[in-house]
Amino acid sequence: MSFPTRRLRRLRTSSKMRELVQETSLDPRDFICPVFVQEDLKSRVKVDSMAEIERLPLDDLNDEVGTISDLNIPAIMLFGIPAKKDEEGASSFDDKGIVQKAISQIRSNFGDKIVIMADVCLCQYTSTGHCGIVQNNKIDNDSSINTLAKIATSQARAGVDTVSPSAMMDGQVAAIRKALDDEGFTDVSIMSHSAKHRSSFYSPFRDAAECAPKFGDRKTYQVPFTNAREAMREVESDISEGVDIVMIKPALSYLDLIAETRRRFNIPVAAYSVSGEYALVKGAAKQGWVNEQEITSEILHSIKRAGADMIVTYFAKSAAKFLQES
Ligand code: PBG
Repeated sequence: MSFPTRRLRRLRTSSKMRELVQETSLDPRDFICPVFVQEDLKSRVKVDSMAEIERLPLDDLNDEVGTISDLNIPAIMLFGIPAKKDEEGASSFDDKGIVQKAISQIRSNFGDKIVIMADVCLCQYTSTGHCGIVQNNKIDNDSSINTLAKIATSQARAGVDTVSPSAMMDGQVAAIRKALDDEGFTDVSIMSHSAKHRSSFYSPFRDAAECAPKFGDRKTYQVPFTNAREAMREVESDISEGVDIVMIKPALSYLDLIAETRRRFNIPVAAYSVSGEYALVKGAAKQGWVNEQEITSEILHSIKRAGADMIVTYFAKSAAKFLQES
């Protein structure tokens, strides 16, 4: 009988031993919690495709942010759903728009107790449902980045900490950085959805934020899911334009890109575990096919292990709770 010379099982003999050699850990401080706020809403509305996720009226926002902050989650990501849409998405850069109101309300109630991040995009605000301005049936890059810059400065005037462009327009980070600096908002940071892929994993979000494109798709601006080098060029471009945090999106099917970004660049890396990733887990858990808490923990640890410094996740609150209890 031959004996193995190496025994990796020695370090798995007890739970304390396993704790000692654990390489990756998860903490509520890793999370950014998405928050949907809708204009002219009387009470919370459930999102059908995303169990336990709701759109909130402004009046419920303080409660929600209080809950998030009490769970030691350091940041929120605000998405607004306006009452009116038009071709230009004008309500996106209105100083009295829904997100701007939400930002200033949270800022005056919570001060510096939570990092306020806000999505900078047009699709919730345009009648076309596209992330940029449509001209002659095309998504026009250069007029779109001007509008994105206007959204960012109006959010900055409301008191945002971090703007998070998700439109995938070329030059959006540079345009936003310049506009912010020109108005003196040199301390407002940018977390770009740097490599946001054209993904089927976003469908539940479109239900949550009412932002499905009315014609065509997002293939002319989002990165094809087949392309890794192109994703790295997106990250590289954002860094050269002055981004503060880069993001890979979605997360679970893109762990290779999270790892690659971590290896190549010395900048904080965020991962966005998107609505479809959430919905798949929720759906299977509801059927009793998987254990929700265990699978959530495994998924979030995997995203950290791949190299993410922070995770935007719809599991933020539930994961923070089970982490506190364990
Ligand atoms: C749109 C936007 C999308 C998401 C975040 N911002 C949807 C899209 O591009 O169609 C998806 C987020 C998610 O699925 O959780 N700017």
